[in-house]
Amino acid sequence: MSQQHSTAPAPTPTTDAALATVDRRRDWWRDAVIYQVYPRSFADSNGDGMGDLEGIRSRLPYLRDLGVDAVWLSPFYASPQADAGYDVADYRAVDPMFGTLLDADALIRDAHELGLRIIVDLVPNHSSDQHEWFKRALAEGPGSPLRDRYHFRPGKGENGELPPNDWESIFGGPAWTRVTEPDGTPGEWYLHLFAPEQPDFNWEHPAVGDEFRSILRFWLDMGVDGFRIDVAHGMVKAEGLPDLGSHDELRLLGNDVTPFFDQDGVHDIYRQWRLILDEYSDALWPEGPSEEGRGRETGGRIFVAEAWTPTVERTANYVRPDELHQAFNFQYLGTHWDAAELREVIDRTLESMRPVGAPATWVLSNHDVTRHATRFANPPGLGTQIRLAGDRELGLRRARAATLLMLALPGSAYVYQGEELGLPDVVDLPDEVRQDPAYFRGAGQDGYRDGCRVPIPWTREGSSYGFGDGGSWLPQPEGWGELSVQAQTGVPGSTLELYRAALAVRRAHPDLGAGDAVEWLRAPEGVLAFRRGEFVCVANTTGEPVTVPAHGRVLIASGEVAVADGEARVPADTTVWWTTG
Ligand code: NOJ
Repeated sequence: MSQQHSTAPAPTPTTDAALATVDRRRDWWRDAVIYQVYPRSFADSNGDGMGDLEGIRSRLPYLRDLGVDAVWLSPFYASPQADAGYDVADYRAVDPMFGTLLDADALIRDAHELGLRIIVDLVPNHSSDQHEWFKRALAEGPGSPLRDRYHFRPGKGENGELPPNDWESIFGGPAWTRVTEPDGTPGEWYLHLFAPEQPDFNWEHPAVGDEFRSILRFWLDMGVDGFRIDVAHGMVKAEGLPDLGSHDELRLLGNDVTPFFDQDGVHDIYRQWRLILDEYSDALWPEGPSEEGRGRETGGRIFVAEAWTPTVERTANYVRPDELHQAFNFQYLGTHWDAAELREVIDRTLESMRPVGAPATWVLSNHDVTRHATRFANPPGLGTQIRLAGDRELGLRRARAATLLMLALPGSAYVYQGEELGLPDVVDLPDEVRQDPAYFRGAGQDGYRDGCRVPIPWTREGSSYGFGDGGSWLPQPEGWGELSVQAQTGVPGSTLELYRAALAVRRAHPDLGAGDAVEWLRAPEGVLAFRRGEFVCVANTTGEPVTVPAHGRVLIASGEVAVADGEARVPADTTVWWTTG
């Protein structure tokens, strides 16, 4: 280990001082609703079947009207797309398939004009094998100084024919690939925790850290409001790259500390990054206060970690006061539609975030998992990669209820494009159109992430239902138009209008997302009830209607709630918000 990233346990947080300085107005992100745009599948402006930045820009008013605070964009950088853009060849360029840097600039400016923040994806664990450094490392052969910026090693075995250690790729198969040297002979191996086209950087090398600090500044200078950090738990590997000693790697991931994930050294990197971000955060937000106000006065910039750790407590390490701002709550995402399980994970989340002063985050869907409308349509225990339609009506009912529950919790919530339309996963994509690299490597993840990446429908009719003029890179199912923005707009009770109404309530009542606690109320088995100031949220996770005390006025509900004589009948799988104010 270099001095730069020691393996010494990270210091114990001293939160009191840091918490005393929390400025709730400046810290817009503490209760923000952040909408994930998957650029390939949001809107296609040039009819090539692939979404792009201009398409996103044209739809920003939709996002403003939806009522979200910020937009996180999955990668749009120059990339051969071996992993849908999570294989970056040039961190400072936009891939032509998505547009140009000027388009990115225009998108950021327009978003700010509309009062929307922009968070971009940063992929620091690995580059593309088409990154200039890696291409040169290969071309220059063994001994090239560029090889030190990645993990090149000689193989084991008599002729170096075996991988240097027993690590497996998250996408299946060995985590090492042997290169052919410039003279045509089989040579060294390089490490890739994901696809072979995604070689892992060696974060021990000072040039890697320098490069990423410079990349941060590049995008901050462009005006972005934050970064989502891909594989935020992966950059530092245990010294000597020791064998894992297990072939049960996928089970260990997220359940145990491994020599390649959640090593303490990553925290040193984040402390350095935080200093950079804080330099920018003191500046005024470029366009000044938006008409909506609500904490937009200063330019707080943020980091959100994609960190898979064994426990919520270890996740909290990433959001200590001098590190990152938020971390995705994957434990919540993986929770079944079950009151007891939900209550436990909510309590544990709030308890683990409180000592470090970071807001809890909540998420139900993203581009890597089966959409929650489909997860909840199936029996529990199938995981987050499901290729079964299940009971769609049930799934949608639960998904709407789950969303309303999520949006009543204190902290920040993430919404994945299309969930506001109640989209299910597309479970029957023919194999020949699938692009998820995990599918092609088999034996690793189930590799069915394409199902949640199908381009979203904007209109009832038309080529690709308004996604673009030229079809869509993954086929949309028949009838997709009935789920479109056009079909749901203004329709009382539609999922889109439910999201709009819930987000409008959050905007009108900033207290709803603020704070770090819920006050649980007594409730029948299978029902969650809690108070947040003047609000009460009741979520019925059972398959039967329940009768509960009325708590004032029904503000919004995911199903038809009947109130009479101080009591309310909440249908099966339904959430309701009350106000006593
Ligand atoms: C997490 C991203 O969300 C996923 O899509 C990607 O495949 C891996 N990281 C590797 O970058």
